[in-house]
Amino acid sequence: MVQQVSAPGPQQRYDVDANDESLPLLQDLMQRFGDTCRVTSPGGDHDSVVIHNTDDIRHVLLGNRGNYVKGMALNRVRVLLGNGLMASEGELWVRQRRMVQPAFQTQVIRGFAPLMRRANADLIERWAAEAERGEPVNLTHDLSELALNIVLRALFSTDFELLIDAEGSSPFDLLTKETRRDLAFAAKFRALAHLVRAMIDSRRKEQRIEMDLLSILMEARDKDSGEAMPDRALVDEIMTLIVAGHETTASTLNWTWYLLSQNPKVESRLHAAIAETKPALANEPPAECAYVEQVLQESMRLYPAGWLLSRRALGDDQLGGFHVPAGTEIFICPYLLHRHEAHWDRPEAFDPERFAPAAVEARDRFAYLPFSAGPRFCIGTTFSMAEMTMHLSMVARRFQLQYTGSEPPQAEFQINLRTKQDIHMRLVAR
Ligand code: HEM
Repeated sequence: MVQQVSAPGPQQRYDVDANDESLPLLQDLMQRFGDTCRVTSPGGDHDSVVIHNTDDIRHVLLGNRGNYVKGMALNRVRVLLGNGLMASEGELWVRQRRMVQPAFQTQVIRGFAPLMRRANADLIERWAAEAERGEPVNLTHDLSELALNIVLRALFSTDFELLIDAEGSSPFDLLTKETRRDLAFAAKFRALAHLVRAMIDSRRKEQRIEMDLLSILMEARDKDSGEAMPDRALVDEIMTLIVAGHETTASTLNWTWYLLSQNPKVESRLHAAIAETKPALANEPPAECAYVEQVLQESMRLYPAGWLLSRRALGDDQLGGFHVPAGTEIFICPYLLHRHEAHWDRPEAFDPERFAPAAVEARDRFAYLPFSAGPRFCIGTTFSMAEMTMHLSMVARRFQLQYTGSEPPQAEFQINLRTKQDIHMRLVAR
């Protein structure tokens, strides 16, 4: 007989998963049962527990992290990404994280400033032509292309140009053209792995080292064994970085522009803050502007791309004072946590002041998890913040973006939290 979680929960049985049906369910359960709720699976073969209390969240992600692995919701991701950092566990994860980490050091990311700046300058040039014609732009589509372009250039630099020359266009465009993330998509995406293998082979043959993530990963050596990553692991990490680095960033920027378009006071304050900041030189990251970062942080509070985190307990534990047997699935929902009234005043309001240093200092660190926390926090945090601050600083200097929809965009709660339909914006030159 399966041991049950002793926390209260509904009679009815459900499968909690990263999909549109789960959010209203989780909202309802939070209202009825509070910060710790048990949900039994339809087959009765396992329980899930949803936790909103920051002490429990800290316990799972940090204090007792050895007792937790990624949960069932990750199975779908594994089909798409293989056994890269997002999905791997145990010794493999420890070894790989140690080897991949140096590729995401601040110094390395600063080196990507020129390519991030160029990609945004190209976008601005295209948008300027559209603005002149008075045509709205498909923001969602254009940001998806931008973020994909940036991550592919950071990974492959010159080999990406060679690939486009050879194929006529980038085969990775698949990621922006298709929005479904089902098995059919996973199969098509995995089929692109041979292109990555070909790049690895050609660099080895030519003994060529580039200033990009691929070369850093190819040169990485395990500190105990002195060995390089096996090719299979290398390919899995690259495929993971393409997907994890693209969709999350694009969708955060998409929501950010929408929120700015609906909050003119914040928008004006952003324009003023950017005007006070010295424009950066061509090859530099933008001069630091605290308000740009606060706007992005507040946007990720309301719309965290990773809206549902899942784990599985390896051994028995206690959460919220309740017994949690081995095998229980644990769900942490940053979307609901970021609106939890215990931590956030007027949670639905878009107010970047929440991220002023004194306010951050006063708040529980675990009430805000856009990049998760603990050892498995997002490895691309600095990369994405650099990319997003660059984009916002450059574009807001040139344009005001006006939302053309008559209704607010609907949110789609799948693996990532995106808008259900593409957002269109009218660009007004500033
Ligand atoms: C706004 C942008 C981003 C957001 C909101 C975001 C969010 C997250 C979250 C919540 C996790 C933890 C998932 C979990 O614990 O189950 C994660 C992990 C990860 N992210 Fe990001 N991410 C972003 C950008 C990026 C970028 C740009 C890259 C790489 C280029 C990246 C690569 C990864 C990887 C490899 C992991 C797995 C780390 C591990 O388990 O060791 N992410 N991300």
